[in-house]
Amino acid sequence: MHADVSALFPGRWSPRGFSDRPVDQDVLDSLFEAARWAPSCFNEQPARFLVASSEADLALFRPLLVDGNRAWADRAPVIAFVLAARQFRKKGTPNRWAGFDTGAAWMSLALQASIRGLATHAMGGIHTDQVYETLRIDPEQWEVLCGLVIGWPDPDAPLPQWARDAEAPNARRPLSEVVTYGPIP
Ligand SMILES: Cc1cc2nc3c(=O)[nH]c(=O)nc-3n(C[C@H](O)[C@H](O)[C@H](O)COP(=O)(O)O)c2cc1C
Repeated sequence: MHADVSALFPGRWSPRGFSDRPVDQDVLDSLFEAARWAPSCFNEQPARFLVASSEADLALFRPLLVDGNRAWADRAPVIAFVLAARQFRKKGTPNRWAGFDTGAAWMSLALQASIRGLATHAMGGIHTDQVYETLRIDPEQWEVLCGLVIGWPDPDAPLPQWARDAEAPNARRPLSEVVTYGPIP
């Protein structure tokens, strides 16, 4: 039994079958615009996206994914890395909410993508040290959190069998496991 929710939420899922069709710049802009409107602690907006959509940049970004992700993500027209600023800009003190806020920005992006008929797929499976090095990211300033694929879903995309078998929306824990009213019993 599910509580009532907009179809937007269960309608978004993370496929591995992507078309190689490019994503127009204005469509891509609308996704990052959605991310930009995410709330953040002190309105710090710690999220930063490093994006590859040209063939030259994609060639640079693809080897930064682990092989299991490259097996399906290499075909996608957009790969990005999601970074969070480690410090508050004004005071220079550590921002312990940066990961939380950057997660909110990614989810806004993912939902906006879904609204536009695009799909997204987050990837923890990245060569993090190489991401810092190759993309010239200052590790004192930024935390690399995740990789992302953005593109048009394609159920007919060539996929390894393990990925083909997993190509379906995932289930969720029941609400009773996610929410507790009052203290932990
Ligand atoms: C932070 C994060 C890291 C993930 N890493 C990977 C990954 O490396 N490879 C992969 O195929 N999927 C990865 N996923 C996708 C999740 O497995 C997926 O979001 C989850 O199973 C829920 O499914 P859904 O997004 O289709 O609803 C990741 C998702 C998130 C949010």
